[in-house]
Amino acid sequence: MIDIIRQRRSIRKFTEKTVDNEKLKLLQEAALRSPASKNANAWEFVFVQDMELIQGLAASKPFGSKFLETAPLAVVVAADDTKTEAWVEDCSVASIFLQMTAQSLGLGSCWVQIHGREHSEGLNAESYVQSLLGIPSNLKVLSIIAIGYPVKERQAKDAADLQWEKIHLNKFTDRSE
Ligand SMILES: Cc1cc2nc3c(=O)[nH]c(=O)nc-3n(C[C@H](O)[C@H](O)[C@H](O)COP(=O)(O)O)c2cc1C
Repeated sequence: MIDIIRQRRSIRKFTEKTVDNEKLKLLQEAALRSPASKNANAWEFVFVQDMELIQGLAASKPFGSKFLETAPLAVVVAADDTKTEAWVEDCSVASIFLQMTAQSLGLGSCWVQIHGREHSEGLNAESYVQSLLGIPSNLKVLSIIAIGYPVKERQAKDAADLQWEKIHLNKFTDRSE
């Protein structure tokens, strides 16, 4: 697992190669194995491979979603917020499970934030995605996880460059000065 964590970088440019059914099934299984608060499992996952719909998803936000255009797979992560107050956490855990599983399968991925973002003036990105994919309005949309084969591998971050000062032992140490 630590090697998968070390190698993962956000990938925003994908080759045309599609994600085969075996990998698709493993990604779906991983999403469904995500831990969820009170075991509520209030999430729903829309696996989108239709390139026309993916072009639509790429237009979810003015910035930060256009790269979806080349993704052969986009997974929309949503949850019913009437079933759990921890829907953001539950969807976040599932999103990262999808990303780490993608990495373990030799795929690249990137998170596209939808919750709290605007599509255009007067329309939020969530309503836009709901309407594009027919997702009912009781399902809150947290993210879209773009998945595919990277055009170029990205270099892993060097361990020496990590913000080790953010680790505190036993008690918080103020290092702001
Ligand atoms: C909650 C969250 C929201 C993100 N939203 C976006 C996004 O909307 N568009 C995007 O291109 N990348 C997005 N990212 C990816 C981050 O930009 C990326 O993880 C960060 O720059 C660190 O780079 P790395 O993933 O290569 O380590 C998001 C990541 C997280 C965790």
